[in-house]
Amino acid sequence: MNAGIIGTGHYVPEKVLTNHDMEKIVDTSDEWIRTRTGIEERRIASDDMDTSDLAFRAAENALKDADVKAEDLDMILVATVTPDQPFPSVSNMLQHRLGATKAASMDVAAACSGFMYGLITAKQFIENGSYENVLVIGVEKLSKITNWEDRNTCVLFGDAAGAAVVGPVSEGKGILSFELGSDGSGGPHLYQGKEDDLLYMNGREVFKFAVRQMPESSVNVVKKIGLSEQDVDYLIPHQANIRIMEAARQRLGVPEEKMATAVKRYGNTSSASIPLALSEEVKAGKIKENDLVVLVGFGGGLTWGAVALRWGK
Ligand code: ACO
Repeated sequence: MNAGIIGTGHYVPEKVLTNHDMEKIVDTSDEWIRTRTGIEERRIASDDMDTSDLAFRAAENALKDADVKAEDLDMILVATVTPDQPFPSVSNMLQHRLGATKAASMDVAAACSGFMYGLITAKQFIENGSYENVLVIGVEKLSKITNWEDRNTCVLFGDAAGAAVVGPVSEGKGILSFELGSDGSGGPHLYQGKEDDLLYMNGREVFKFAVRQMPESSVNVVKKIGLSEQDVDYLIPHQANIRIMEAARQRLGVPEEKMATAVKRYGNTSSASIPLALSEEVKAGKIKENDLVVLVGFGGGLTWGAVALRWGK
Protein backbone atom coordinates (compact mmCIF):
# COMPACT_ATOMS: atom_id res chain seq x y z
CA MET A 1 0.00 0.00 0.00
CA ASN A 2 1.28 3.47 -0.90
CA ALA A 3 0.75 6.59 1.20
CA GLY A 4 0.19 9.91 -0.53
CA ILE A 5 -1.14 13.39 0.01
CA ILE A 6 -4.89 13.35 -0.64
CA GLY A 7 -5.68 16.94 0.38
CA THR A 8 -3.92 20.18 1.26
CA GLY A 9 -4.82 23.44 3.00
CA HIS A 10 -3.21 26.49 4.49
CA TYR A 11 -3.88 29.61 6.49
CA VAL A 12 -1.95 32.86 6.83
CA PRO A 13 -2.79 35.72 9.21
CA GLU A 14 -4.16 38.91 7.66
CA LYS A 15 -1.57 41.35 8.94
CA VAL A 16 1.18 42.02 6.36
CA LEU A 17 4.57 43.37 7.46
CA THR A 18 6.50 44.61 4.41
CA ASN A 19 10.24 45.18 4.17
CA HIS A 20 9.50 48.90 4.33
CA ASP A 21 7.69 48.29 7.62
CA MET A 22 10.81 46.44 8.84
CA GLU A 23 12.89 49.54 8.04
CA LYS A 24 10.95 51.32 10.81
CA ILE A 25 11.70 48.54 13.33
CA VAL A 26 15.44 47.85 12.77
CA ASP A 27 18.35 49.32 10.79
CA THR A 28 17.71 47.49 7.51
CA SER A 29 16.51 48.16 3.96
CA ASP A 30 14.08 46.63 1.52
CA GLU A 31 16.99 46.26 -0.90
CA TRP A 32 19.18 44.32 1.61
CA ILE A 33 16.37 41.94 2.55
CA ARG A 34 15.28 41.29 -1.04
CA THR A 35 18.75 40.71 -2.46
CA ARG A 36 20.00 38.55 0.44
CA THR A 37 16.84 36.49 1.03
CA GLY A 38 14.19 37.07 -1.67
CA ILE A 39 11.68 38.07 1.03
CA GLU A 40 9.35 41.00 0.27
CA GLU A 41 6.82 40.69 3.09
CA ARG A 42 5.66 38.36 5.85
CA ARG A 43 2.46 37.76 7.86
CA ILE A 44 2.16 38.34 11.59
CA ALA A 45 -0.58 36.79 13.73
CA SER A 46 -2.54 39.02 16.10
CA ASP A 47 -2.10 38.71 19.88
CA ASP A 48 -5.36 36.81 20.24
CA MET A 49 -4.40 34.21 17.62
CA ASP A 50 -2.04 31.50 18.85
CA THR A 51 -0.38 28.62 17.02
CA SER A 52 -3.34 26.25 17.50
CA ASP A 53 -5.71 28.84 15.96
CA LEU A 54 -3.56 29.05 12.82
CA ALA A 55 -3.32 25.24 12.71
CA PHE A 56 -7.08 24.80 13.14
CA ARG A 57 -7.86 26.91 10.08
CA ALA A 58 -5.31 25.12 7.88
CA ALA A 59 -6.59 21.75 9.13
CA GLU A 60 -10.20 22.59 8.24
CA ASN A 61 -9.12 23.60 4.73
CA ALA A 62 -7.10 20.42 4.19
CA LEU A 63 -9.89 18.14 5.45
CA LYS A 64 -12.34 19.85 3.10
CA ASP A 65 -9.94 19.49 0.18
CA ALA A 66 -9.41 15.79 0.95
CA ASP A 67 -13.15 15.24 1.56
CA VAL A 68 -12.26 13.53 4.84
CA LYS A 69 -14.31 14.11 8.01
CA ALA A 70 -12.51 14.95 11.25
CA GLU A 71 -14.13 11.93 12.92
CA ASP A 72 -12.47 9.70 10.32
CA LEU A 73 -8.95 10.83 11.23
CA ASP A 74 -6.78 8.16 12.86
CA MET A 75 -3.94 10.47 13.81
CA ILE A 76 -3.00 14.14 13.99
CA LEU A 77 0.68 15.11 13.77
CA VAL A 78 1.56 18.75 14.34
CA ALA A 79 5.05 19.98 13.49
CA THR A 80 5.88 23.13 15.42
CA VAL A 81 8.57 24.75 17.55
CA THR A 82 6.18 27.46 18.74
CA PRO A 83 3.34 25.56 20.46
CA ASP A 84 0.77 27.49 22.49
CA GLN A 85 2.40 25.97 25.59
CA PRO A 86 4.68 22.95 26.25
CA PHE A 87 1.68 20.74 26.96
CA PRO A 88 -1.02 19.83 26.13
CA SER A 89 0.35 19.60 22.62
CA VAL A 90 -1.13 21.56 19.72
CA SER A 91 -2.22 18.23 18.20
CA ASN A 92 -4.16 17.41 21.40
CA MET A 93 -5.90 20.78 21.18
CA LEU A 94 -6.79 20.20 17.53
CA GLN A 95 -8.07 16.69 18.19
CA HIS A 96 -10.69 18.18 20.50
CA ARG A 97 -11.42 21.30 18.48
CA LEU A 98 -11.84 19.45 15.19
CA GLY A 99 -13.93 16.71 16.80
CA ALA A 100 -11.47 14.04 15.68
CA THR A 101 -12.91 11.59 18.20
CA LYS A 102 -10.81 8.53 17.30
CA ALA A 103 -7.52 10.28 16.46
CA ALA A 104 -4.24 9.76 18.29
CA SER A 105 -2.21 12.95 18.43
CA MET A 106 1.33 14.13 18.95
CA ASP A 107 3.57 17.09 18.14
CA VAL A 108 6.80 16.76 16.19
CA ALA A 109 9.69 19.14 16.89
CA ALA A 110 12.37 19.27 14.21
CA ALA A 111 12.37 23.01 13.51
CA CYS A 112 12.00 23.78 9.80
CA SER A 113 12.21 20.06 8.94
CA GLY A 114 9.25 19.27 11.21
CA PHE A 115 6.69 18.86 8.45
CA MET A 116 8.98 16.43 6.60
CA TYR A 117 9.40 14.36 9.79
CA GLY A 118 5.61 14.39 10.28
CA LEU A 119 4.86 13.45 6.69
CA ILE A 120 7.29 10.54 6.71
CA THR A 121 5.94 9.34 10.08
CA ALA A 122 2.40 9.41 8.65
CA LYS A 123 3.59 7.35 5.67
CA GLN A 124 4.77 4.55 7.99
CA PHE A 125 1.43 4.26 9.84
CA ILE A 126 -0.47 4.11 6.55
CA GLU A 127 1.81 1.74 4.69
CA ASN A 128 1.93 -0.75 7.59
CA GLY A 129 -1.86 -0.83 7.53
CA SER A 130 -2.43 0.63 11.02
CA TYR A 131 -4.12 3.86 9.94
CA GLU A 132 -6.04 5.23 6.98
CA ASN A 133 -6.21 9.01 7.45
CA VAL A 134 -3.44 11.02 9.07
CA LEU A 135 -3.56 14.81 9.26
CA VAL A 136 -0.09 16.40 9.17
CA ILE A 137 0.21 20.09 9.96
CA GLY A 138 3.19 22.43 9.94
CA VAL A 139 2.48 25.58 11.91
CA GLU A 140 4.43 28.41 13.53
CA LYS A 141 3.81 31.64 15.33
CA LEU A 142 7.47 32.60 15.11
CA SER A 143 6.66 36.24 15.87
CA LYS A 144 6.40 35.31 19.56
CA ILE A 145 10.02 34.06 19.76
CA THR A 146 11.49 36.62 17.33
CA ASN A 147 13.92 39.17 18.74
CA TRP A 148 12.49 42.32 17.16
CA GLU A 149 15.71 44.20 17.96
CA ASP A 150 17.99 41.79 16.05
CA ARG A 151 18.12 42.70 12.35
CA ASN A 152 20.06 39.50 11.60
CA THR A 153 16.98 37.39 12.33
CA CYS A 154 13.77 39.43 12.67
CA VAL A 155 13.55 40.24 8.95
CA LEU A 156 13.53 36.55 8.02
CA PHE A 157 10.54 35.00 9.76
CA GLY A 158 6.74 34.96 9.60
CA ASP A 159 3.63 33.20 10.95
CA ALA A 160 1.58 30.64 8.99
CA ALA A 161 0.07 27.15 8.88
CA GLY A 162 -0.03 24.47 6.19
CA ALA A 163 -1.67 21.05 6.32
CA ALA A 164 -1.89 17.82 4.38
CA VAL A 165 -4.14 14.80 4.74
CA VAL A 166 -2.13 11.65 4.13
CA GLY A 167 -3.89 8.46 3.11
CA PRO A 168 -3.66 5.38 0.89
CA VAL A 169 -3.27 6.06 -2.84
CA SER A 170 -3.11 3.84 -5.90
CA GLU A 171 0.01 1.96 -6.96
CA GLY A 172 2.79 4.11 -8.37
CA LYS A 173 1.38 7.28 -6.74
CA GLY A 174 2.24 8.92 -3.44
CA ILE A 175 5.46 9.08 -1.47
CA LEU A 176 7.93 6.88 -3.36
CA SER A 177 11.09 7.55 -1.34
CA PHE A 178 12.35 9.62 1.55
CA GLU A 179 15.46 10.72 3.39
CA LEU A 180 15.67 12.02 6.96
CA GLY A 181 18.75 13.13 8.83
CA SER A 182 20.06 15.01 11.81
CA ASP A 183 23.35 16.39 13.07
CA GLY A 184 23.11 17.58 16.65
CA SER A 185 26.58 19.10 16.52
CA GLY A 186 24.93 22.00 14.66
CA GLY A 187 22.73 22.90 17.64
CA PRO A 188 24.63 26.11 18.50
CA HIS A 189 23.92 27.52 15.01
CA LEU A 190 20.16 27.80 15.47
CA TYR A 191 18.29 27.56 18.77
CA GLN A 192 15.79 29.08 21.16
CA GLY A 193 17.48 30.74 24.14
CA LYS A 194 16.84 29.03 27.48
CA GLU A 195 16.78 32.33 29.37
CA ASP A 196 14.74 34.59 27.12
CA ASP A 197 12.94 32.12 24.80
CA LEU A 198 14.17 34.10 21.77
CA LEU A 199 15.46 32.69 18.49
CA TYR A 200 19.23 32.81 17.86
CA MET A 201 20.89 32.01 14.55
CA ASN A 202 24.34 31.97 13.02
CA GLY A 203 23.07 32.72 9.52
CA ARG A 204 26.35 32.06 7.72
CA GLU A 205 26.77 28.56 9.22
CA VAL A 206 23.15 27.60 8.53
CA PHE A 207 23.53 28.93 4.98
CA LYS A 208 26.64 26.81 4.32
CA PHE A 209 24.90 23.69 5.62
CA ALA A 210 21.68 24.36 3.69
CA VAL A 211 23.24 25.01 0.26
CA ARG A 212 24.98 21.64 0.55
CA GLN A 213 22.18 19.60 2.15
CA MET A 214 19.11 20.69 0.15
CA PRO A 215 20.54 19.82 -3.29
CA GLU A 216 22.08 16.58 -1.97
CA SER A 217 18.88 15.31 -0.30
CA SER A 218 16.80 16.28 -3.35
CA VAL A 219 19.01 14.22 -5.65
CA ASN A 220 19.16 11.31 -3.18
CA VAL A 221 15.39 10.78 -3.04
CA VAL A 222 15.15 10.80 -6.83
CA LYS A 223 18.04 8.35 -7.22
CA LYS A 224 16.44 6.03 -4.63
CA ILE A 225 13.56 5.36 -7.03
CA GLY A 226 15.87 4.80 -9.97
CA LEU A 227 15.15 8.14 -11.62
CA SER A 228 17.36 11.11 -12.36
CA GLU A 229 17.29 14.89 -11.91
CA GLN A 230 15.66 15.36 -15.33
CA ASP A 231 12.59 13.42 -14.19
CA VAL A 232 11.64 15.97 -11.50
CA ASP A 233 8.59 18.03 -12.51
CA TYR A 234 8.17 20.26 -9.48
CA LEU A 235 10.25 21.37 -6.51
CA ILE A 236 8.89 22.53 -3.16
CA PRO A 237 11.92 23.48 -1.07
CA HIS A 238 11.81 24.85 2.46
CA GLN A 239 11.15 28.56 1.97
CA ALA A 240 14.06 30.00 3.97
CA ASN A 241 16.05 31.99 1.48
CA ILE A 242 15.76 32.22 -2.30
CA ARG A 243 19.53 31.75 -2.70
CA ILE A 244 19.43 28.41 -0.85
CA MET A 245 16.34 27.34 -2.80
CA GLU A 246 18.08 28.26 -6.06
CA ALA A 247 20.99 25.95 -5.18
CA ALA A 248 18.57 23.01 -5.01
CA ARG A 249 16.68 24.07 -8.14
CA GLN A 250 19.83 24.44 -10.23
CA ARG A 251 21.23 21.11 -9.01
CA LEU A 252 18.03 19.37 -10.18
CA GLY A 253 17.81 21.44 -13.37
CA VAL A 254 14.15 22.30 -12.67
CA PRO A 255 12.94 25.42 -14.56
CA GLU A 256 12.28 28.54 -12.45
CA GLU A 257 8.51 28.38 -12.93
CA LYS A 258 8.47 24.84 -11.49
CA MET A 259 9.69 25.84 -8.04
CA ALA A 260 7.45 27.31 -5.32
CA THR A 261 8.62 30.75 -4.17
CA ALA A 262 6.19 31.56 -1.36
CA VAL A 263 9.19 32.91 0.57
CA LYS A 264 8.64 36.25 -1.23
CA ARG A 265 5.25 36.76 0.41
CA TYR A 266 5.59 34.95 3.72
CA GLY A 267 9.29 34.82 4.64
CA ASN A 268 10.55 31.75 6.49
CA THR A 269 7.62 30.15 8.32
CA SER A 270 9.67 27.17 9.55
CA SER A 271 7.50 24.01 9.89
CA ALA A 272 4.69 25.70 7.94
CA SER A 273 6.73 26.65 4.91
CA ILE A 274 6.64 23.42 2.88
CA PRO A 275 2.93 22.55 3.37
CA LEU A 276 1.98 26.21 2.81
CA ALA A 277 3.93 26.38 -0.45
CA LEU A 278 2.58 22.99 -1.56
CA SER A 279 -1.01 23.95 -0.82
CA GLU A 280 -0.65 27.21 -2.76
CA GLU A 281 0.87 25.50 -5.82
CA VAL A 282 -1.84 22.83 -5.80
CA LYS A 283 -4.63 25.43 -5.49
CA ALA A 284 -3.07 27.39 -8.39
CA GLY A 285 -3.22 24.24 -10.53
CA LYS A 286 0.53 24.21 -11.04
CA ILE A 287 1.07 20.65 -9.85
CA LYS A 288 -0.47 18.17 -12.26
CA GLU A 289 -1.57 14.56 -11.89
CA ASN A 290 1.45 12.23 -12.17
CA ASP A 291 4.01 15.01 -11.64
CA LEU A 292 7.14 13.88 -9.81
CA VAL A 293 7.37 16.35 -6.93
CA VAL A 294 10.32 16.76 -4.58
CA LEU A 295 9.69 18.25 -1.13
CA VAL A 296 12.88 19.09 0.73
CA GLY A 297 13.59 20.83 4.01
CA PHE A 298 16.33 21.65 6.49
CA GLY A 299 16.34 23.36 9.83
CA GLY A 300 17.50 23.75 13.38
CA GLY A 301 19.06 20.72 15.01
CA LEU A 302 20.48 20.54 12.47
CA THR A 303 17.85 18.42 10.74
CA TRP A 304 16.81 17.67 7.19
CA GLY A 305 14.29 15.64 5.21
CA ALA A 306 13.14 15.07 1.65
CA VAL A 307 10.58 13.02 -0.26
CA ALA A 308 9.99 12.19 -3.90
CA LEU A 309 6.29 11.78 -4.56
CA ARG A 310 4.16 11.05 -7.58
CA TRP A 311 1.22 13.45 -7.40
CA GLY A 312 -2.31 12.03 -7.47
CA LYS A 313 -4.57 9.64 -5.63
N1 ACO B 1 19.71 44.53 7.18
C1 ACO B 1 20.89 45.09 6.85
N2 ACO B 1 22.07 44.52 7.13
C2 ACO B 1 22.04 43.32 7.76
C3 ACO B 1 20.84 42.69 8.14
C4 ACO B 1 19.64 43.35 7.82
N3 ACO B 1 18.43 42.84 8.12
N4 ACO B 1 21.13 41.53 8.74
C5 ACO B 1 22.46 41.42 8.75
N5 ACO B 1 23.02 42.49 8.18
C6 ACO B 1 24.43 42.80 7.97
C7 ACO B 1 25.30 42.01 8.91
O1 ACO B 1 25.40 42.68 10.15
C8 ACO B 1 26.62 41.99 8.16
O2 ACO B 1 27.28 43.20 8.39
P1 ACO B 1 28.84 43.24 8.73
O3 ACO B 1 29.50 42.61 7.52
O4 ACO B 1 29.10 44.68 8.90
O5 ACO B 1 28.98 42.41 9.97
C9 ACO B 1 26.21 42.01 6.69
O6 ACO B 1 24.82 42.37 6.67
C10 ACO B 1 26.37 40.68 5.99
O7 ACO B 1 25.93 39.62 6.78
P2 ACO B 1 26.06 38.13 6.25
O8 ACO B 1 25.75 37.24 7.38
O9 ACO B 1 27.32 37.95 5.49
O10 ACO B 1 24.88 38.07 5.20
P3 ACO B 1 24.50 36.84 4.32
O11 ACO B 1 24.73 37.15 2.91
O12 ACO B 1 25.06 35.57 4.86
O13 ACO B 1 22.94 36.79 4.56
C11 ACO B 1 21.35 35.57 5.83
C12 ACO B 1 22.43 36.60 5.85
C13 ACO B 1 20.23 36.04 4.93
C14 ACO B 1 20.80 35.38 7.25
C15 ACO B 1 21.91 34.24 5.30
O14 ACO B 1 23.09 33.93 6.00
C16 ACO B 1 20.96 33.11 5.42
O15 ACO B 1 19.95 33.06 4.73
N6 ACO B 1 21.28 32.11 6.24
C17 ACO B 1 20.43 30.96 6.40
C18 ACO B 1 19.30 31.30 7.26
C19 ACO B 1 18.30 30.18 7.23
O16 ACO B 1 18.06 29.59 6.22
N7 ACO B 1 17.74 29.89 8.34
C20 ACO B 1 16.85 28.80 8.36
C21 ACO B 1 16.31 28.72 9.63
S1 ACO B 1 15.56 27.18 9.68
C22 ACO B 1 14.86 26.98 11.15
O17 ACO B 1 14.91 25.89 11.62
C23 ACO B 1 14.22 28.17 11.85
